[in-house]
Amino acid sequence: MIFLAKARFLSLFLVFHYVVEFCIGGDVITASEYIQDPGSITSSGGLYRMGFFSPNGSANRYVGIWYNNVPRYSVLWVANRKNPILDSSGVMTISGDGNLVVMNGKRELVWSSNVSNSVTNAKAQLLDSGNLVLLKQSSNSSANDAENLWESFQHMTDSFLEKMKLSTNSRTNEKQALTSWKSPSDPSIGSFSASLDPRNIPELFIWNGSSLYWRSGPWNGNIFTGVPEMQSVYSNGFAEASYMSYLLLKSNGDLVQPYWDQSSSSWGIVWSSRLSDCDVYGQCGPFGICNAKKSPICSCLKGFEPKNFEEWSRGNWSSGCIRKSLLQCNGTTNGSSTAGKKDGFLKLEIMKVPSSGIFFSTLEEDCPGNCSMNCSCVAYAYDSGVGCVFWIGELIDLQKFSIGGTTLYVRLAHSELEKKGHLREIIATTVIIGTLVVIIIIWFARRKAKKQAVKQSMEKHLSSGEAPSVVMLGENLSRVEFQEFVKYKIEELAAATGNFCEANKLGRGGFGPVYKGRLPNGQEIAIKRLSRASGQGQQEFMNEMEVICKVQHRNLVRLLGCCAEGDEKMLIYEFMPNKSLDTFIFDPLKQVHLDWRTRFNIVDGICRGLLYLHRDSRLRIIHRDLKASNILLDKELNPKISDFGMARIFGGNENQANTRRVVGTYGYMAPEYAMEGRFSEKSDVFSFGILLLEIVSGRRNTSFHYEDQCLSLLGLAWKLWNEEDVLALVDPTMPATPFEVQLSRCINVGLLCTQERAKDRPSISTVISMINSEIVDLPRPKQPAFTARKITQDTDSSGQSQKTCSANDVTLTVLQGR
Ligand SMILES: *[C@@H]1O[C@H](CO)[C@@H](O)[C@H](O)[C@H]1NC(C)=O
Ligand SMILES: *[C@@H]1O[C@H](CO)[C@@H](O)[C@H](O)[C@H]1NC(C)=O
Ligand SMILES: *[C@@H]1O[C@H](CO)[C@@H](O)[C@H](O)[C@H]1NC(C)=O
Ligand SMILES: *[C@@H]1O[C@H](CO)[C@@H](O)[C@H](O)[C@H]1NC(C)=O
Ligand SMILES: *[C@@H]1O[C@H](CO)[C@@H](O)[C@H](O)[C@H]1NC(C)=O
Ligand SMILES: *[C@@H]1O[C@H](CO)[C@@H](O)[C@H](O)[C@H]1NC(C)=O
Ligand SMILES: *[C@@H]1O[C@H](CO)[C@@H](O)[C@H](O)[C@H]1NC(C)=O
Ligand SMILES: *[C@@H]1O[C@H](CO)[C@@H](O)[C@H](O)[C@H]1NC(C)=O
Ligand SMILES: *[C@@H]1O[C@H](CO)[C@@H](O)[C@H](O)[C@H]1NC(C)=O
Repeated sequence: MIFLAKARFLSLFLVFHYVVEFCIGGDVITASEYIQDPGSITSSGGLYRMGFFSPNGSANRYVGIWYNNVPRYSVLWVANRKNPILDSSGVMTISGDGNLVVMNGKRELVWSSNVSNSVTNAKAQLLDSGNLVLLKQSSNSSANDAENLWESFQHMTDSFLEKMKLSTNSRTNEKQALTSWKSPSDPSIGSFSASLDPRNIPELFIWNGSSLYWRSGPWNGNIFTGVPEMQSVYSNGFAEASYMSYLLLKSNGDLVQPYWDQSSSSWGIVWSSRLSDCDVYGQCGPFGICNAKKSPICSCLKGFEPKNFEEWSRGNWSSGCIRKSLLQCNGTTNGSSTAGKKDGFLKLEIMKVPSSGIFFSTLEEDCPGNCSMNCSCVAYAYDSGVGCVFWIGELIDLQKFSIGGTTLYVRLAHSELEKKGHLREIIATTVIIGTLVVIIIIWFARRKAKKQAVKQSMEKHLSSGEAPSVVMLGENLSRVEFQEFVKYKIEELAAATGNFCEANKLGRGGFGPVYKGRLPNGQEIAIKRLSRASGQGQQEFMNEMEVICKVQHRNLVRLLGCCAEGDEKMLIYEFMPNKSLDTFIFDPLKQVHLDWRTRFNIVDGICRGLLYLHRDSRLRIIHRDLKASNILLDKELNPKISDFGMARIFGGNENQANTRRVVGTYGYMAPEYAMEGRFSEKSDVFSFGILLLEIVSGRRNTSFHYEDQCLSLLGLAWKLWNEEDVLALVDPTMPATPFEVQLSRCINVGLLCTQERAKDRPSISTVISMINSEIVDLPRPKQPAFTARKITQDTDSSGQSQKTCSANDVTLTVLQGR
């Protein structure tokens, strides 16, 4: 009997293989080309397969998608997860109304894509991204505009693939979520779900039903601050050759990242949301702090004691801790004559910050003052990517990490702060973390494409004396979308701009005209209509824009979305009412209102935006066309750099240090870039140096007459430097200022930034330290670039000789032969 059953199983197995072999090749399902259990289809590149399967430990049949070439499959998506087919009679096909459906042997509907606008001619296709799409089949052979009626990426189950997007629409609160299986043998919807919460500060949450189970900590634009192992290297933001790794929300509530290890032919785990019990939300109750390396793991914050000593000693920490001494606020509010001194703040380093922080300001300096002023503020923290955040009420889900984390300041009564506590904790790396690091590094070392990036990052960190960063989540999580990237239709944009009428034209940038527009909801936008020069295809362009869309900083103009239809490519930006910096600093009427404080704030902001582009953003962008007209000003005259990333579209590969196509503006271009097409962070520093001198002097860096000499601004600055009269460069219309020392510092820095040789120029982070006087002794500049030669009168391309010394502020797009 048993023997018989085994034999039958074996023959079934053979049939299975037989059929599967037969089906390889097709990646579409139509009404006539359907899948019948146990058949399957394979994506065209052979990476993914879709067909019928039974989960481990169950005989039920489901339609799923899994990695094709992996013998022990892990299912990435399930269609009929709620309705299994009990025998092997299932069929997946296109129904009469154009929906993708799964039916059982009695032709009863088990699952449907359930798209309402019916189409008669539809087909489903399994793409090489792992996405299953339902397409309106176009009779047009050039059918690259086939419309997606439905896609599995929009209806994810428990797995998150690299190209997916987990998004929450903050307006409609419509969420995409991963939902766990009920158990490893039952794909129906379990109790855990994972979604992004974009309210206040974006964060990834895992819910058990309606109660919070795990939180990632706030997203700082680069990593989730509560996942300290997740440090991104400077990658160019693109997926390299596909490798099998994804995120999986397991039925026990753990979010893990499995990957296929080719050498051992098995699945490994790169990362797990639960490394210790500390990762369970609220483990130690209010004001409790969890440290996985201590025993017991929970303790009370300094100045606090267990609310219920008895329960606490039994290891029931849920009730948390209470203050030993009441807060006095600023020492006067509680009135009592014995009331103590003003409250202070306890500094806790390397922390996972508590949940429910309130974003307050982007400025670090606003943080301590405002928190201590507001008596209900019990803690604050600052992270350059998140900003200044504070907490009111109870502090829940605090954790002490051994690497990364954030510095948290907790309000304590003055009397508690004075007491000496055993506060210092030794930071030791545990075996767990150590092993993880090794695994990850090995894993990445295997990935050829990544190798270089990791190496660079390490060198960078080693040279700056920091520990090497560790890549943990790969690109999966860092690709999480927080801001909706909107793909606009050309009709919408035409309507918003009055059909791109001349009256709505804001100006003409280097890459095409810019229009002002107003969306139906009243939002004002700026639309850059790209000239046709971009050689990119639509999809490539969209991918690029989506990546650039994630580069966000308060000193960068925000890209809201884009549009690519036919030949047209447009970028949609937030609208800046105060236009660009050149309309201020070079305008005799407006420049009077720009006092030095405002100008310095602009200089500082530009530096910070540039630092973010060069160092902190995931893309490591070199701007290549920094100039006054590319600095926009918001209502408060805060600077925002625009047009960053354009070189990626127009100039090709950012990592390539040589380019055939030079994109830049005369007068701002570093010599090595203008002449040899070599660009680097230092060529941006050069442009910044010119900009800095322009802001100080209120003059363009085009040549002008000065005491009968034909000099560029840079030439003049160098002349005055040698005459030890740099303050003569300062804009005479600028209201008098007591900041002469700072002004001469800035001119000195401007000259350092414009040195002939790139290696003599400081990096932008050094520039920040220099202008903020953190570096006290500035080096003396050598002769800057372009000042040795005497400027002759310009000859423009048409051969006309101009009488003045001026050069036009035009963007050059020089194709340089090599
Ligand atoms: C299936 O389940 C058994 C027992 O539960 C387990 O030993 C085996 O590894 C599982 N197989 C797969 C492919 O997960
Ligand atoms: C299909 O969609 C309609 C609305 O569009 C909804 O009312 C219905 O419940 C859906 N059916 C299934 C099986 O999801
Ligand atoms: C096919 O598509 C092209 C461009 O997408 C269009 O110009 C043409 O009119 C279409 N033909 C038909 C028959 O729809
Ligand atoms: C999830 O919630 C259910 C019901 O509230 C509970 O029984 C279960 O223990 C929770 N699971 C975990 C892992 O906390
Ligand atoms: C833990 O303590 C709380 C109150 O402090 C109590 O309500 C709860 O029942 C306790 N849980 C267990 C498992 O003892
Ligand atoms: C003032 O003292 C009362 C108790 O005396 C306390 O409840 C209250 O929280 C204190 N106010 C502040 C701001 O700490
Ligand atoms: C104390 O705080 C209150 C408001 O909470 C404020 O009005 C008062 O000016 C503060 N006093 C001092 C000395 O800071
Ligand atoms: C509080 O924040 C505001 C900006 O929101 C800032 O102008 C002010 O200086 C801050 N106050 C203190 C005491 O830091
Ligand atoms: C303190 O901050 C809370 C939360 O933002 C706010 O509601 C409250 O008005 C603030 N209180 C004062 C005195 O500013």
